[in-house]
Amino acid sequence: MPQIKLEGLSRYYRTGAETIKALHNISLTIESGEFVAIVGPSGSGKSTLMNIIGCMDRSTAGEYQINGDAVDALSSDRLAQIRNSTIGFVFQSFHLLSRLTALRNTELPLIYSGTPKRERQKRASEALEKVGLKGRSHHLPTQLSGGQQQRVAIARAMVTQPKLLLADEPTGALDTHTGEEIMSLLRELNKGGVTVILITHEAEVAAYARRRLEFRDGQLITDSALSSQQ
Ligand SMILES: Nc1ncnc2c1ncn2[C@@H]1O[C@H](COP(=O)(O)OP(=O)(O)OP(=O)(O)O)[C@@H](O)[C@H]1O
Ligand SMILES: [Mg+2]
Repeated sequence: MPQIKLEGLSRYYRTGAETIKALHNISLTIESGEFVAIVGPSGSGKSTLMNIIGCMDRSTAGEYQINGDAVDALSSDRLAQIRNSTIGFVFQSFHLLSRLTALRNTELPLIYSGTPKRERQKRASEALEKVGLKGRSHHLPTQLSGGQQQRVAIARAMVTQPKLLLADEPTGALDTHTGEEIMSLLRELNKGGVTVILITHEAEVAAYARRRLEFRDGQLITDSALSSQQ
């Protein structure tokens, strides 16, 4: 069973008299363990797709199945549960809480899931260590570099040990070298079995993936296998 299956999926936005076809009739499957890059010009529907795959938004038509479950048939509670336990998110702008230390930021998903404090701190420390931030647990986001902040965001995304990591332009706010470090980290996570789906507009970043989905005007125009270069 594929981890992700979209069948004739569309997402339309109605604004006044106009209908914007943010996604139109998308069918694709993604297997567990894949490393996929989503590319395409601004406004082509990339983030809309990511939000649907991440169960943060629902389609207007068509079907989305995650691990065989039809998302439309799930209650909001069940959907929130899937989101918290099986999916990790990383964004271009890190989305860290500025008044919390790296450790506290990393602990957040475990607070939502009701994990006891000691267990939470232990797992958050381990997650930070895994992303190479062992000595930075008690730093605030402003005391960290951009690359380090993104590492905290990745540690936070991974602390619940999700099977699927979704990243919307994870290197977009970083310089080339730091971006490469973040991509190496995502590649390591993928090698450990996590499915990685990322949006990027940089060819060098997309080259880390083994499959490339290209969108234009809400449609999937190419789906190609990449030979891994790194
Ligand atoms: N809430 C909304 N209401 C109306 N239209 C929307 C909404 N969100 C997105 N759109 C439209 O849907 C289309 C796809 O948007 P989306 O954010 O998915 O693009 P994108 O490929 O992620 O672009 P970018 O590379 O700039 O981030 C765009 O035309 C956008 O204007
Ligand atoms: Mg976008």
